[in-house]
Amino acid sequence: MNQLVSSDLFVKMVAVRRDLHQHPELSGQEFRTADTIIQFLKNAGVSNISRVAKTGVIAEIPGPSHAPWIILRADTDALPIKEETNLDFSSVNEGIMHACGHDGHTAMLLGAAELLAQEAHLPAPVRFIFQPSEEHGAGAMAMIQEGVLENAGMIFGGHLDRHYPTGTLVVTDGPVNASTDTFLVEILGQGAHGARPHESIDAVVVGSLLVMALQTIVSREVDPAFPSVVSIGRFQSGTASNVIAGQATLEGTIRAQHPQVRAHLHTAIQRIAKSIGQLHGANITTTIHLGTPPVINSPEMAALSRQGAALTVGQDNVVPLRTANMGGEDFSYYLEKVPGAYIRFGSQVPGLESFPAHSSKFDFDEQALAVGASYFHRMAILAGQQLLNQ
Ligand code: NI
Repeated sequence: MNQLVSSDLFVKMVAVRRDLHQHPELSGQEFRTADTIIQFLKNAGVSNISRVAKTGVIAEIPGPSHAPWIILRADTDALPIKEETNLDFSSVNEGIMHACGHDGHTAMLLGAAELLAQEAHLPAPVRFIFQPSEEHGAGAMAMIQEGVLENAGMIFGGHLDRHYPTGTLVVTDGPVNASTDTFLVEILGQGAHGARPHESIDAVVVGSLLVMALQTIVSREVDPAFPSVVSIGRFQSGTASNVIAGQATLEGTIRAQHPQVRAHLHTAIQRIAKSIGQLHGANITTTIHLGTPPVINSPEMAALSRQGAALTVGQDNVVPLRTANMGGEDFSYYLEKVPGAYIRFGSQVPGLESFPAHSSKFDFDEQALAVGASYFHRMAILAGQQLLNQ
């Protein structure tokens, strides 16, 4: 795979990936990470570099001045997980780990920057976004507020994926990640002695009914062809075995791949919670906190990305997602504003398939760094030419 880039560049990408892996930083704390990125970019001959949004970095390679910008994005943050990979370059920061491959995303985009810096004539200028705080879903918005999408023509990004062998690029039309909203239900009933239930409005019973009733939204109300999830992760109530609880709180997550389904889930949760409260005389308030929207590739942008992917790994190694992904990704905020595509880089390590992203034993095949750098390099040129011809 490393014939896709020079062995010199491959060695540099592996080195920077391992360095970042060994020194992971949590969302919003990516200070050393930003320094490392800037150093690599300087060595690669990229001169227009700036820090934005505290720990984010953008870098620019100029092209024809009238052309809109091609934007390439990587995320840079790590997770609060204690690493258990036994890699030589395991995290030295206790309890923090690059368990989602963002070290790899950063390294491959740095590789692409070096490749693009060597191009004499780019069809369009290229801006690289090294975005912090993806895991908090807050980094993309912060970068956008700093103006990183100014004069943007198209944007491309991607994620390493252990479900696919290295050398495979996964490009899908339509949804590739779900929206990630959360909800909080507060139940106010009436507490009483455990032996005198007729004097209570039991918040545990009302909450339990609500937990069961909410399951029917996905199973009975949403078209099964459109994936969605309503999960309750927290149900808190009660103080003692002989006290009927007067209050309970439920917290959960809501996932959907389509905006209409997302809206339906929100109203259905509100409606069912209110009705269950009325049914039992409890006061129920429901608050929905909006998270990231779904990531949706338009057919046109997916087609362009597929072309870039085929130039990189060959037509036969470009595949669509096999199954729906209900995880979130704040790349969706960029796609709301600029056309683009989000893909996956196959990076299976034989024998380690069972350790998913966010596992303490997660790792990926470093050969995928060459694929990713090469894809971004080709994509910047292909998309730039497309913009020029528009
Ligand atoms: Ni990730």
